[in-house]
Amino acid sequence: MRHCMSPLDFSVEEIDELIGLAADIEADPAKYEKACAGKRLATCFYEPSTRTRLSFESAMLRLGGATLGFASADSSSAAKGESVSDTIRVISAYADICAMRHPKEGAPFVAAQKSEIPVINAGDGGHNHPTQTLADLSTIHSLIGRLDHFTIGLCGDLKFGRTVHSLISALVRYSGVRFVLISPEELRIPSYIREDVLVRSGAAFEEVESLDDAMPSLDVLYMTRVQKERFFNEEDYVRLKDRYILTREKMKLAKDSMIVLHPLPRVNEIAVDVDDDPRAMYFTQAKKAVFIRMALILTLLGIHVDPSIPQPDNR
Ligand code: CP
Repeated sequence: MRHCMSPLDFSVEEIDELIGLAADIEADPAKYEKACAGKRLATCFYEPSTRTRLSFESAMLRLGGATLGFASADSSSAAKGESVSDTIRVISAYADICAMRHPKEGAPFVAAQKSEIPVINAGDGGHNHPTQTLADLSTIHSLIGRLDHFTIGLCGDLKFGRTVHSLISALVRYSGVRFVLISPEELRIPSYIREDVLVRSGAAFEEVESLDDAMPSLDVLYMTRVQKERFFNEEDYVRLKDRYILTREKMKLAKDSMIVLHPLPRVNEIAVDVDDDPRAMYFTQAKKAVFIRMALILTLLGIHVDPSIPQPDNR
């Protein structure tokens, strides 16, 4: 049985297959509408979510399956002190696959050890968010046509932003990807990503503070919000939260072909009027997340609808 804890659980070839499958689902959804008939997805969310939980539910419903679950720790027996290990043993009897979000790093991994069904990490603390990464990769591939040889700027809270950590870990495996890490000193990328992922892989990267200076060279700008829930004190959050705000004026510094992504939710880091810029692709990214999550559910459940799906070539 296979789980999804990190984007590195999948080889580059397998990610190509997932992206190809997601594209096929998007192009011909009717072909997949009964693929998961009789299957159940449990969504166990111990931390707030809109996109991840609802797109997983939408994904399973579009595959003809059913969903059950809880949306907060308070509405589950975690509030009475139940461990994730005990919870997943019980959920294993109720569902065929589980998507779990938890504020503690590694909690979905602990659950997976005791699970009798595939467990998907839907975000664990400041650590990983592999299915957001799959959505990001799928979106980049569909919009710029490749996952290699481009420059990506990651801007904002690079310390606590789990989507950034997962995305960097996934992208260093493609050749010619250059990373521009744009953050204030206090929110720089953690050393376990800088040293163990970027340096070790030999990726080209630089750490800068100025978004304006970085803009002209970027093919992809990945904005992130400052993660209020992971700060130890309100004062630091208030000081840092508006450090980067992408505006129409700043967009004039970017290439015409640059795309803007954001895992969402947005707080204040992208001005609302940027939404009208044709390069603003964060709502497209959220839409594409459903198809890649459909592809992931099918893959982890070992369900093959069409073995002749074309595979993108990123190498
Ligand atoms: N991108 C993302 O994880 O959004 P939610 O927190 O709304 O699930």
